[in-house]
Amino acid sequence: MRDLINIMDLSTEEIDSLIDVANHIIDDPEAYAGKCAGKKLATLFFEPSTRTRLSFEAAMYELGGHVLGFSEAQSSSAAKGESVADTVRVVSGYADIIAMRHPKEGAPMVASMKSLVPIINAGDGGHNHPTQTLTDLLTIARKKGRLTDLTIGLCGDLKFGRTVHSLIEAMSRYEGIKFVLISPPELDLPSYIRDDILEEEGIPYVETTDLENVIGDLDILYMTRVQKERFFNEADYIRLKDSYILTPKKLAAAKPDLSILHPLPRVNEISVEVDEDPRACYFDQALFGKYIRMALIMKLLQID
Ligand code: CP
Repeated sequence: MRDLINIMDLSTEEIDSLIDVANHIIDDPEAYAGKCAGKKLATLFFEPSTRTRLSFEAAMYELGGHVLGFSEAQSSSAAKGESVADTVRVVSGYADIIAMRHPKEGAPMVASMKSLVPIINAGDGGHNHPTQTLTDLLTIARKKGRLTDLTIGLCGDLKFGRTVHSLIEAMSRYEGIKFVLISPPELDLPSYIRDDILEEEGIPYVETTDLENVIGDLDILYMTRVQKERFFNEADYIRLKDSYILTPKKLAAAKPDLSILHPLPRVNEISVEVDEDPRACYFDQALFGKYIRMALIMKLLQID
């Protein structure tokens, strides 16, 4: 039985294969319509979500399966003090696979030790979000035609942005990747990513606070939201929340084939005028999330 807790749980070959399957689903969705008939997905979301939860649910429905679950801790027995371990032990008797989001780092790992069925980490605190990373990789592969030889700018909240952490881990395994880390000093990349991955693996990177100065160098610009829910102090959030706002004016200096990604939800960090720019990929990216989750559900359920 396989779980997906961290993107590094998957080999590069497995990621490439998931991307191939997702591309095939996009081309021929009818071929997958009954693949999960009779199977049940439980979505246990202890934290808010739109894309991740609903794309998992849409994925299972499109595979012909069923969905059960909850979308907030308050509507589950967690509100009465039940532990994650007990919740998962019980739900794993009701479902064939579980997607779980939790505000505490490591909660899906704990769940995987108690579950009788595969656990998918759908986001744990500021730590990891591996299915967002699969979504990002599918988006990059489809928009750029490759996952190698790319200069990737990561902009915004690199400290609490779990999607950034998982994306760096994943992309560091491909050849010719350079990172440009754009953030205020207070929100820069945690040392366990910078030292243990970038430095350790000898991946080229630069750090800057100035988006406009580097935008012309980028093949991918991955914008992120400042993660209000992870701040201890509201004054700090208010001071930092509008550190970067991508506008058509700033994009004037960017490459014509830049791809702009954002895991969404967006707050202010990309102005709505940018949505009309052909380089804006973030709504396609949200759609691709459904297809890669279809591929992942089939893989973890060992469905051919
Ligand atoms: N990208 C993402 O995880 O979005 P949701 O929080 O809406 O699931």
